[in-house]
Amino acid sequence: MADRYAVIGNPVAHSKSPQIHAEFARATGEQLEYGRIEAPLEGFEHTLAQFRDAGGKGLNVTVPFKEAAFRYCSELSARARAAQVVNTLVFSGARVFGDTTDGVGLVRDLERNVGETLAAKALLLMGAGGAARGVLPALLEAGVGRVVIANRTLARAETLAQRYGVIACAYGALEGHAFDIVINATSAGLANEAPPLPASVLRPGALAYDMLYGGDTPFLATARNAGMRTSDGLGMLVEQAAESFFVWRGVRPETRPVLEYLRGR
Ligand code: ATR
Repeated sequence: MADRYAVIGNPVAHSKSPQIHAEFARATGEQLEYGRIEAPLEGFEHTLAQFRDAGGKGLNVTVPFKEAAFRYCSELSARARAAQVVNTLVFSGARVFGDTTDGVGLVRDLERNVGETLAAKALLLMGAGGAARGVLPALLEAGVGRVVIANRTLARAETLAQRYGVIACAYGALEGHAFDIVINATSAGLANEAPPLPASVLRPGALAYDMLYGGDTPFLATARNAGMRTSDGLGMLVEQAAESFFVWRGVRPETRPVLEYLRGR
């Protein structure tokens, strides 16, 4: 029987992960099945236990369970420990290993697919929730120069910024500041909203990146109108999936063909 994997979340119906992993499996010749599991909001651990009892080998974890997955693990990778969120679980007997591949997924997408150099760049990270926390260590490791974290609730940005020795800022206080890269790690796009970024921050030629995927968010639309280069998070999704696939199977699938396929090219 093929090894079983799945993405677990709520909601999870529209997740592209099953399609991505099916493509990876086909391209690498790995024998595996990859499904999707919607866990009740109060039933994450119970649903995990059922999957493990049925012989499941590993899971991708998505919203809103990444913090709960972090707490569930018996062992953690260094990058999961730093980010305090887990998006990749590996089961073997009583052992539950947790990793986070979102940060490396974002960095690889920026560097390889978008073609952006991160070293010494001035970067604005919007948001201070699990999504921002998951990617900040990898961005710093990639050598970005200056990082500012902006958040609606300033205290959350301050807590995160202090941990990494970077600067926290309210949106209004960004007026007149310039960045090479602006990353939206908020969930504002899900509500069809954009973070309240002063217009002066949207500089022509700079990169606007939204970690959400699936078309234009209000942030990307505004940024494009201001002359910025834009990218959604589809490449990050594919890159983090490839890294999870590697964690599970020890084989690194090519990402570019899958990304082109998903973009319909
Ligand atoms: P996630 O795991 O997706 O990061 P989260 O921990 O709930 O989810 O965090 C959501 C983030 O999006 C937070 O930074 C939130 O700002 P607050 O901390 O002030 O709540 C941000 N966010 C959500 N909707 C937003 C909006 N309309 N404008 C600006 N920020 C928004």
